[in-house]
Amino acid sequence: MSTQWNAEKLRGIWKRMIQRPLVGLDIGMSGLKAVELTSTSRGKRLVAYNRVPLPWGAITTEGEVKERDAVLSALKELFAFKGFSTKHVAVASFGSSIITKKITIERMAPAELKEQLYWEAEQYIPFPVAEVNLDFAILDTQTENAEQMEVLIVAAKKDFVQSLSGLLDEAGLKADVIDNPSFALGNAFEFNYSHAITGPTGVPPLSVLLDFGAGATRVSIVEGDKTTFTRDLRQCGMACTLMLSERLGLNLTDAEEAKLFDFEDEPVRVIIDEFNHALTDEVARTIDYVIGQNPERSVQGIYYCGGGSRLSGLVEELEAKLTAPVAPLNPVQNLAGSGRKMNAQAIRELRYLGSTAVGLALRASGDSE
Ligand SMILES: Nc1ncnc2c1ncn2[C@@H]1O[C@H](COP(=O)(O)OP(=O)(O)OP(=O)(O)O)[C@@H](O)[C@H]1O
Ligand SMILES: [Mg+2]
Repeated sequence: MSTQWNAEKLRGIWKRMIQRPLVGLDIGMSGLKAVELTSTSRGKRLVAYNRVPLPWGAITTEGEVKERDAVLSALKELFAFKGFSTKHVAVASFGSSIITKKITIERMAPAELKEQLYWEAEQYIPFPVAEVNLDFAILDTQTENAEQMEVLIVAAKKDFVQSLSGLLDEAGLKADVIDNPSFALGNAFEFNYSHAITGPTGVPPLSVLLDFGAGATRVSIVEGDKTTFTRDLRQCGMACTLMLSERLGLNLTDAEEAKLFDFEDEPVRVIIDEFNHALTDEVARTIDYVIGQNPERSVQGIYYCGGGSRLSGLVEELEAKLTAPVAPLNPVQNLAGSGRKMNAQAIRELRYLGSTAVGLALRASGDSE
């Protein structure tokens, strides 16, 4: 299969039904995670999960691979784990190489929009349109003006897609699907929280998903089964480590250790508290911004995941400051068990680190319709 990300492949972001097994591969700033699921008569089962850390800086927050050899050897190590049945992957983009934007335009048929998309998109995306692949989803949201409709556009930089495909090829992997991490997260949410997707009244409920990563805190708004808004916040796991490093004069390794283990100690505690305030304020402002655009809507729930959500005091701060209920996003709660190769500790880890990889793995088994 060609690894060029063409328009058809982009469309696969939402709709693709792939019957062959695929491993969901999440290339995170702090490490690689891979998940494989299988369909059984009782539902989806976990076949395998593995994680391999990456040195900080191997991938930049812009999505550039700075240390190619380190990333290649981590990819090889990840797949050396015997549990995976295939080298075909559904992978998420990383960094700021894929952007999404919700726009309101004159109502038109999908075929017409497909033709006009590049003209429309030019004014909304920060890259020259010649350098990107574009796709769209027409949202079935209500607009004030019946002559208009809301459209989510997705722009992926061609050179990013090419270099990602090349990297995976070199590691002996095949990228069958390249997804946006926020859509993958939304997919994991949809699979596990169907009550939050349909809601009791027929009006799609509005949920907030928060992925506290090392390089970004990803905020997504899900309305019904569609991700309608995404934003990456500056405050993230690594920002906290950097703050500790600068304020306490520690190198990054020691600052990371202080964050994970010495969070009760006075100088560390004060800095983490300050970080938690700033991050929660940024999350609250983002949610207020989205609600401000839909004042008649309310948030039914806020779901968090990602390693950064384990930062001491963060969840308590979110619970205290945000007005909707806050709960962990458990990506494996709807799975019908796991294979023999999975131990309890791996499954515990998957709960907070694996949402994006599970969402990607679900692409393989047709759950993304
Ligand atoms: N117990 C903990 N307390 C505080 N922070 C933690 C803890 N465990 C992990 N982290 C932080 O979580 C981050 C890693 O989480 P995760 O694996 O979700 O990020 P990532 O997927 O690599 O990053 P990104 O999604 O931004 O690419 C790191 O910044 C790490 O310091
Ligand atoms: Mg991540």
